[in-house]
Amino acid sequence: MKRMIIVLASMLSITVQAQLQHDWENPSVLGINKLPYHATLQLPSKWKECKEIVSLDGQWSFHWSPTPEVRPADFYREDYDVTQWDKITVPGNWQMQGYGTPIYININYPFVRNRPSVTTEPPRDWTAYENRNPVGSYVTFVDVTKEMLSKNLILHFGGVHSAMYIWVNGQKVGYSQNSMSPAEFDVTAFLREGRNRLAVEVYRWCDGSYLEDQDMWRLSGIFREVQLWVRPLVHIADYRVTAEPNKDYSQAKVKAVISICNTGKKKTKVRPSMEIDGKASMTELLVNAGDTINCIFDYTLENPRLWSAEKPHLYPFSIEMKDDHGSTIEHFDYHLGVKRVECVGEVFKINGQNVKLRGVNRHDHHPLTGRFVDDATYEQDIRLMKQANINFLRTSHYPDREYLYELCDRWGVYVMDEANQESHGYGYANHEMGEDTAWKAAHVDRAESLVKRDYNHPCVILWSLGNEGGVGPNIQAMYDTVVALDSTRLPFYDCHPRYSALHDFGYPTPDVLKAEAEKETEKPLIAREYAHAMGNSMGNFQEYWDVIYADSSIAGAAIWDWVDQGIAKKDNGEEYWAYGGDFGDQPNDGNFNINGLVAPDRKPHPHYYEVQYVYQPLTFKRDSDGTIRIVNHDSFTAPSEYDITCDTVSFGSECVLNVYARLKADKPWAEKGFIVAREQFVLTPYEYPSLSAKKSNCKAQVSIDGHSLTSWIVDGREMLQGPLEPYFWKPENDNQRAAHFAERTATWKEVKDVTVKYTIIDDHSILVEMAYQPTVTDRPIIPKVGMRLRLPADYTQIRYYGRGPWENYPDRKRSAFLGIYEMPLSAYETEYIRPQDNSNRCDIRWFELSSATMPVGSPMVRTLRIKGLQPLCIRAWDYGEEDLDAAPRHPQDIQRGRFINLNIDLNIHGVGGVDTWGQRTLPQYTIDGNTPYHYAFILEFL
Ligand code: GAL
Ligand code: MG
Repeated sequence: MKRMIIVLASMLSITVQAQLQHDWENPSVLGINKLPYHATLQLPSKWKECKEIVSLDGQWSFHWSPTPEVRPADFYREDYDVTQWDKITVPGNWQMQGYGTPIYININYPFVRNRPSVTTEPPRDWTAYENRNPVGSYVTFVDVTKEMLSKNLILHFGGVHSAMYIWVNGQKVGYSQNSMSPAEFDVTAFLREGRNRLAVEVYRWCDGSYLEDQDMWRLSGIFREVQLWVRPLVHIADYRVTAEPNKDYSQAKVKAVISICNTGKKKTKVRPSMEIDGKASMTELLVNAGDTINCIFDYTLENPRLWSAEKPHLYPFSIEMKDDHGSTIEHFDYHLGVKRVECVGEVFKINGQNVKLRGVNRHDHHPLTGRFVDDATYEQDIRLMKQANINFLRTSHYPDREYLYELCDRWGVYVMDEANQESHGYGYANHEMGEDTAWKAAHVDRAESLVKRDYNHPCVILWSLGNEGGVGPNIQAMYDTVVALDSTRLPFYDCHPRYSALHDFGYPTPDVLKAEAEKETEKPLIAREYAHAMGNSMGNFQEYWDVIYADSSIAGAAIWDWVDQGIAKKDNGEEYWAYGGDFGDQPNDGNFNINGLVAPDRKPHPHYYEVQYVYQPLTFKRDSDGTIRIVNHDSFTAPSEYDITCDTVSFGSECVLNVYARLKADKPWAEKGFIVAREQFVLTPYEYPSLSAKKSNCKAQVSIDGHSLTSWIVDGREMLQGPLEPYFWKPENDNQRAAHFAERTATWKEVKDVTVKYTIIDDHSILVEMAYQPTVTDRPIIPKVGMRLRLPADYTQIRYYGRGPWENYPDRKRSAFLGIYEMPLSAYETEYIRPQDNSNRCDIRWFELSSATMPVGSPMVRTLRIKGLQPLCIRAWDYGEEDLDAAPRHPQDIQRGRFINLNIDLNIHGVGGVDTWGQRTLPQYTIDGNTPYHYAFILEFL
């Protein structure tokens, strides 16, 4: 009876409110009949075997409407026929399955900013004009047995974007928003024996969307798991476990607070217990009908093994409840980690050590399923992160699926878990959302749902209140909530240090990072975002870490970001990675979401390897007497825990020493022998050929026009398809485009003040010398100093001696060791999602391109060999500069295969690595236009 009255009363208030304002445009309605947030009860990897969980994932009936007005408003009724509707996969975003339009937008809202309305009329060309607020109507059926009906039945949604109503068998159950956190409803009273009809109505946008303005694809639908939990009437509603070490780490106090709730009608006796490390403690409780009571277990671990990202030691524990007769009615498995996170003055510490956070930001993105990321992809991501020596992950900018945290617990990654709160459309650190009291509860809801769900994951070290949101009392309330819920982790916020244990500074240059850390004297400094990895990027990465390692008050930094947010799309038979605008989405921010260390399919970009190298836990130095010294950047691992090996390799006259630190045993993320750290030292330097090339009488036929070699006939065949000529221009990459590089250096589309000397050495070889002698003193920097030529299109096999195997540039070449590498041109090039300058290799001693039409060894195979008289930079493409300068959107927009374009340079402008909104390549990696240069190489046709 009591329950009936509550339901009626709340339905009455819904009706009254609906006349005034939709729930989904009313910031004071965050949910209706939602159960309280609680910790993940069962380890996600064990969900499949958990007897209490019935998965409702699968094919649901689905209908999409462009606006709320035209939605099938009565589809929730039992007699509404959905047999003709489409089927959609749950979990999944509807835009990824052919309904509506994905919109990629960064700072602005995709709808007209007019809170709390999300349906104000936008300009006609906006996607939201026609599709004012699309609605997805979902129906599925759930079979329920009589036995299930005697239990407590909870409907669980892992994540629904952005708001939903739920009906069971035609009766309204409730409403929820807050997209990235679970929503649960008690549906016991709504279900019946046999088939039950579950109807869910999802709105693309709601007032909550004002707090979900993250820079990402804006996608909708039921995108995380749906479960029916079949629970004993008296059950474990929540539990929170802390495991804090004492001062000298000789003991850890484990405290578990378990909430037990009796949803039945009878006072019931139960026996909850907790087991850690094989030791159990049990108690006995009487729980009145309708009550929730807490019981507390304490346990002391002697000489505890600590949890850290380096050594993620976990103690398995379980929580169980037996009934009065001693039979188990509920059992959950989890794990705990003993650790301490603290700021001691200006120093950030984990387990008493000044740990450095070698971080990355990650969006929950999959190129086929959008915001739903499956377990295998989670494993691939965390494996690749661990292999890149990343030890810190910020779940930008919302809580991810639970399994990700379990992986971080087990494999060892420190996590900054972030609340789903961003109102960037009102500006960074805005007052509108931070101060408006009507939005206070909505802010707090997002803090509470974050901490309450993920509390039991040892990997969490920081709770972030959100990203690029407001400042003011609403944020203060979030802060107070987090601090009150959890004293064992630290709060973090980017918009104001008042709400943060660490001082944040985003996207500094290395010098600014150093200066900021020196200026800030109260708190440790962190760069929650830095090193914007958009396109061909990540220059000057070592420079950051020289600063970070030198200053104990810098906690670390997190790269923006992990994965390119490209969506797999097929147009006219061509598959490609789509970005903003490719779906006709308006307004959009183009390719500004393609900033990853890895591609959408998780293939590492060349700059991934630079991160792996700079983040390595050990660095090696070689003294003049040949002694190798190891510098350890880790806190809980000794160098002796790795296999350290040295190899001496000779490449002709040059001899190098390669040093490796390898795993001694298998890890979940890499096998024994995996290289975690490495260095290369040159023992005997390379002897470049000298200028004194012998001239001989020979039959080589060459034509020279001004500075260009326009024809070169060898054995009766023309070897050049385009002239060998001095060439100082280079197309932009994303960083350079943002910094107006082409505008600043446009003068170099024409070379100036050069002299070139061609000396024929013999029938097959020419010595080329080029000198640049500026005649004025105000030249801008030079994109590259060197020459270009074009070869017939079949010269597609490459072999070279220089840095590799992956692409490298002067400001991003430390990870690329000297070696002899062989690969097809297609592997030498990097196909960036938005085509841009690519494929450079530095410090090349010699370089060969061979025609690929004949099997190797056939007399018809020709090889062009380039031998530097000093180190060279070489780029090779099967298209030209003009093709990139035309700003193609996608690789398929370029016509390939007409010739091979080869740039043979003394030097090239660095890629840059600070941000993609104006910062330039650091000066030491640019080429001064007012300095003379001279270089030489020998061309040989074999
Ligand atoms: C940051 C923001 C990220 C992303 C990045 C640029 O300021 O927090 O969400 O927009 O800039 O790619
Ligand atoms: Mg933003």
